[in-house]
Parts: sequence; C-alpha cells; structure tokens
Amino acid sequence: MSETGPNIELDRHIPVLCAEVTAALGVRDGGLYVDGTFGAGGYTRAILAARDCKVIAIDRDPNAISAGTDMVKSYDGRLVLVEGCFGSMDSLLKGLGVSQVDGVALDLGVSSMQLDEAERGFSFRFDGPLDMRMDQGKDENAPSAADVVNQASEGLLVRIFSMLGEERKAKSVARAILRARDVEPFTTTRQLASVVEKTIHQNPAKKSIHPATRTFQALRIYVNSELDELVNGLSAAESILKPGGRLAVVSFHSLEDRIVKRFFAQRTGRTGRGSRHMPEQIGPESSFNELAKRNVNAKEDEIARNPRSRSATLRAGERTLAMPIHSDPKSLGLPVFDPVQWSTQ
Ligand SMILES: C[S@@+](CC[C@H](N)C(=O)[O-])C[C@H]1O[C@@H](n2cnc3c(N)ncnc32)[C@H](O)[C@@H]1O
Repeated sequence: MSETGPNIELDRHIPVLCAEVTAALGVRDGGLYVDGTFGAGGYTRAILAARDCKVIAIDRDPNAISAGTDMVKSYDGRLVLVEGCFGSMDSLLKGLGVSQVDGVALDLGVSSMQLDEAERGFSFRFDGPLDMRMDQGKDENAPSAADVVNQASEGLLVRIFSMLGEERKAKSVARAILRARDVEPFTTTRQLASVVEKTIHQNPAKKSIHPATRTFQALRIYVNSELDELVNGLSAAESILKPGGRLAVVSFHSLEDRIVKRFFAQRTGRTGRGSRHMPEQIGPESSFNELAKRNVNAKEDEIARNPRSRSATLRAGERTLAMPIHSDPKSLGLPVFDPVQWSTQ
C-alpha cells in the first residue's frame, strides 16, 4: 500500500488541488464524506488516506464506476461507489440509508480519461463519434452532441455557443453548422472541428487556443446539463451536510465559478447587505460560514506538474445550524434554455 492508499491502476487523471480540498474538508476520524465526482478516485484516495473515515463516491460515468470496483474491494468497507448524478446526491444517499454527512467534495467537468478516449467524442484532438454524454446515453431523453448540432435551431445553437462557450463568433459558427448539416449530418468530432476551424480564422502568428475549444466546451456543458447539475448539487450538499460539515468545490471556468461564488455569497450572507441609501434587508440566517476570504488556486509547482490545474479555483464553506436557504437558480447565474424534445440516437 502506498501512502495514499492501495496502488491500483486508476492514475491517468492527476487530481487537481487535492491537498487543498482534503484540508478544506477538515477530514476527521469516523467521518463520512461524499466525493461527488469520483473520476479516477484521486480525491477519494486522499480523503481515505487522511483519516480513518468513510467515503461515498458518485460518478455518472459507468466507466469510472467499473474502473473503481477494485478500489472498493481494497478499502474493505470504507468506500461505497454509486453510479448517478451528484445533483441528486441527497436521494442517492437516502437510497443507502444515509441522511447526513461530514463533507462533500466536487471536482467539476470531465476527467483526462474521458477526454483522451476518442470514442467518447469529447475532444476535437481525436476523431470519434460526436457524443459527449458522460453517462453514455443512460438518460434516454438527453441528446448526444450530434443530436444537438443536427437538430437544434440556429437560435438555440447561438445561445449554446455564446452562453456556455462564451464564443464571440457564435452566430457564424451556428450558420456554418446549419449549412454543413444540409449537405450531410454530423456524426464525428473531426467533422465539427473542421467546420469550426474554417469559420473562425485564427491569426497563425498569435498563440491561442484551438478555434473549436469554445464550441466543444459549450456542447459538452449543454449535453450533460452541467450547470443545472452544479446548482442542484450545491443545494443537495447544503441539505445533507451536518452543522460543521464542509463543502469544497473545484471549478475550471468562469461559468461554473460564478455559480459557486454566488452560492457561497448568498449562503454566507455576503449579498443583500444594506447601503447608505437602502436599509439592510434582513435575509435568512447564513447556512454556511466562509472557510477562506478568497478562492484558492493552484501554486506554480502544481501548475508545472499538471497544466490542467492552471484554471482551477477552489471555494469552500462550513455548514452552520441554520436551515437550508432556497434561492432561484437564476439568481446564481444559471442560464436557462427552453426545453427541447430531442429525437435521440
Ligand atoms: C474532473 S473529474 C474528477 C476527478 C477526480 N477528482 C479524481 O481525482 O480522479 C470529473 C468526474 O466527475 C464526473 N461527473 C461530472 N459531472 C457529474 C455529475 N453531475 N454527477 C456525477 N458525476 C459527474 C465525470 O464523469 C468525471 O468522472
């Protein structure tokens, strides 16, 4: 056994801000923790190594769950692995007879394994089916990325690319997709990447991200309802954390971080304070205390070891005795899309 637990073959994904997350959770002997984004089990291993505690780990990707089976065995009753979405962690835990936990960790987005497997269709770097569904199609009503680019209206594509990818040329990309799909439906990542590349002309002298990066990010977030999941996950965590329990969330782009930041601002009472002109509104009692005044980012040595950590931001809070606060998801900055009936592949 290594320092961080049994050495098993799940180490292709390098966990980001792992020590900082474990510290933020304040892991203690006898505690019960939820790792809402198991992936390759990096956080789970670190939590289990920190103290004599237990972890319930969740992932919506069946591959992550099956790859974690040996890890469950090796931890001898200290680890339970559940396939499902962290947005429903309260009901998943209820199914296990658990109503309260000491900490919840979320490490948002996709894992290196998901990105690197061409057949999952997440990356423009490899040619594969244009899929991007983390749950591999278990939710029959959720579209694949190909369903979206082949069926969505121009208006919806523009909203997806601009709101979820912050793509300034969203309109041009959407129009180019409509023209291309009239000739032949999209089935592969290469097809989409090449349409986007031809639409977004980059100055070769400028070193910038691949032109398809924002389009692919937007589609991935849309297909997996990632921001709705985040909003639901934060409030599910709020409802299952014991007083004194900790919530630690690592996000990788501004859309996610804005939601996490506003969530903690609302829950710690940092919003709605009065001014000279407007008397203070008496809101509900804070359901979290801030754990740090500022967000935490990766240090230079971690960024050198793992460039993916460059964009990571950790925010964390400690649950108080107060009741959970219910707020309108829109107030957290959640973009709202009209429901669409997809004909799924
Ligand atoms: C960045 S990776 C986590 C890596 C992990 N912390 C580690 O150290 O190995 C994100 C993982 O969360 C999963 N995931 C993303 N959104 C999810 C959701 N809403 N519910 C459950 N799992 C989710 C993905 O399938 C992926 O395996």
